Amino acid sequence: MLSRQLSPGALRKAASLPAFGSKNALRSPRALAVRNASTASSSTAFESFLNSRITLVSVSLFTAGSVAWYTHLYGSLPFLAQVHASHASDEGLHPPQYPWSHKGVLDTFDHASIRRGYQVYREVCAACHSLDRIAWRNLVGVSHTVDEVKAMAEEVEYQDGPDDAGEMFMRPGKLADYMPPPYANEEAARAGNMGALPPDLSLIVKARHGGADYIFALLTGYVDAPAGVEIREGMNYNPFFPGGAIGMARVLFDGLVEYEDGTPATTSQMAKDVVTFLNWASEPEHDERKKNGIKAVILFSALTLISLYVKRFKWTPIKNRKILYDPPADKTH
Ligand code: HEC
Repeated sequence: MLSRQLSPGALRKAASLPAFGSKNALRSPRALAVRNASTASSSTAFESFLNSRITLVSVSLFTAGSVAWYTHLYGSLPFLAQVHASHASDEGLHPPQYPWSHKGVLDTFDHASIRRGYQVYREVCAACHSLDRIAWRNLVGVSHTVDEVKAMAEEVEYQDGPDDAGEMFMRPGKLADYMPPPYANEEAARAGNMGALPPDLSLIVKARHGGADYIFALLTGYVDAPAGVEIREGMNYNPFFPGGAIGMARVLFDGLVEYEDGTPATTSQMAKDVVTFLNWASEPEHDERKKNGIKAVILFSALTLISLYVKRFKWTPIKNRKILYDPPADKTH
């Protein structure tokens, strides 16, 4: 019955496999030798990998590199205690974290707030602080229309030239001009502020630890100096400023500006708007960056899924095959 269903060749082949003919398997020295050879060679390869100098050197280099990289990023290792000559409070009070409307990974700037913030910068901060890296044209499409920006630029006189006669002349501002500085040079700025230099605000949000939170806390954080703290003449107490004594006095007071959109101009509202504006000035690419980030995540996750599928597809025949050792038939009997 069996012989009728299977070909004689199939039966012979099956009989020669160790599982089918156990006598054969035990007696065949070749099969044993093959198995030993394969197990022995893989374990020595693993052992020699563990014992090799190259492995030792590369693991040590990797460890040293990780430590160097971490200390470069964070200044110290987390498990080493440090002793400082200064106290943490010398660095200023740490600002609270505020719920900025552009904080989340999917959030863009509140552009109405940028527009109000520009107004606060222009009417208050621009008296002392420059904004060197922002040109009028940068505001177009962000907070103002092109006609509004042109009109604002034309109100400012810029020096240009030389003309045909070699003379410098003054002309109204154009879109390509940069924001006019309040002082001609650093000396004039210091002379106007009792020796303190009002820093340029273009990149200030990126230039200070705590970023937007710090500047908001600084602008709204002016309080009377606590008992026992001496503040020199001309300095002001602000717990968020490192050292506590800052050359800039409190500048924002309720109702200082009048917003065209009717928003009540409280101190914190103005501070929030001007910080949003300064945050935009530091990161004009912010909205576009997050948009591109989302595109990249969508694109790369789709590509990852496709490549996982293709990998499984290509490997299926290899992973599903069964390898049998089929020695040539013994011809001695
Ligand atoms: C009357 C002049 C004046 C005005 C107006 C003014 N500042 Fe200042 N600001 C200064 C001076 C001076 C300093 C430097 C203080 C110091 O180094 O002690 C300063 C410093 C700063 C700093 C840097 C603080 C730091 O950590 O180093 C920021 C941020 C700042 N001002 C923001 C503003 C903003 C925003 C406005 C508008 C709402 C404004 N300032 C208006 C004079 C002014």
